[in-house]
Amino acid sequence: MRRVLVTGSASGIGAALVARLMASGVDVIVTDRQFGSTLSGSIEADLATVDGIATLVAAIDGPLDGIALVAGLPGTHPSRALLAVNLLAPVALVAALANQLVPGASVVAVSSLTAHRCPWTAAALDRLLDQPREAALMAVDDMEGRAAYELSKAALNRWALRAVTDLQSRGVRVNTVSPGPVDTPILADFATSMGAERIDAARQLVGRHGTADEIAAVIAFLLSPDANWVNGVDLKADGGFHALRARREAAA
Ligand code: NAI
Repeated sequence: MRRVLVTGSASGIGAALVARLMASGVDVIVTDRQFGSTLSGSIEADLATVDGIATLVAAIDGPLDGIALVAGLPGTHPSRALLAVNLLAPVALVAALANQLVPGASVVAVSSLTAHRCPWTAAALDRLLDQPREAALMAVDDMEGRAAYELSKAALNRWALRAVTDLQSRGVRVNTVSPGPVDTPILADFATSMGAERIDAARQLVGRHGTADEIAAVIAFLLSPDANWVNGVDLKADGGFHALRARREAAA
């Protein structure tokens, strides 16, 4: 039986992923900062803090076939907490659990289409990733939420590419999934931090927003052995939004 850790599993995409994995017989380790109801075996840990990450790592022993890094905060939250959850926690968790990942295991991090709006170069993202935690947090101190969110996801994509090299010798794959707007509780916060017009424009162009299960299906695929030859990829799951927008902008 495959054993997979899912962060952010109390809500939205993470909850849909847990349901999907459980239905296909995967042993899922569920974690979130807080669960509305008691889910057997769930681990409550605040990934914005070093202690929370340590609590989660300490609670997981034995081999892992996958890690789905789904927990995330929108730009309506303080930039430090956002960077801590969206970037520093995934990086720290995978580093701490790497030795438990079995050959053939898969790491999937949920990024965002908006990562492509981040103006930072690859070299600047590398410098951010190479800084100690406190220095990295300071980098977003003067940033507005929207820019900090885009940076957190661009740096996550960059980290994932680097992690492919770091984990290759263990036979572990690393990929990211970049959704466009998805109907989950976080979407109302995105409307506040990014502008409701931008979210509405995406809906008009594509016809609707994605569902949590449509994103969960993509993550589940990348976690599974069916994706054995997929490594170092950022998979857009946006109903064609990116392509449709590019075509419209070219025609304007
Ligand atoms: P959601 O708000 O339903 O779920 C996010 C989960 O992360 C929640 O369960 C929350 O408790 C957890 N979380 C937040 N802070 C935490 C902390 N300090 N410690 C532990 N867990 C924490 O939102 P959704 O849509 O399911 O988001 C999942 C991922 O998808 C996020 O990384 C988000 O950035 C990304 N995403 C979502 C999009 C959307 O339109 N819904 C679009 C693009 C990316």
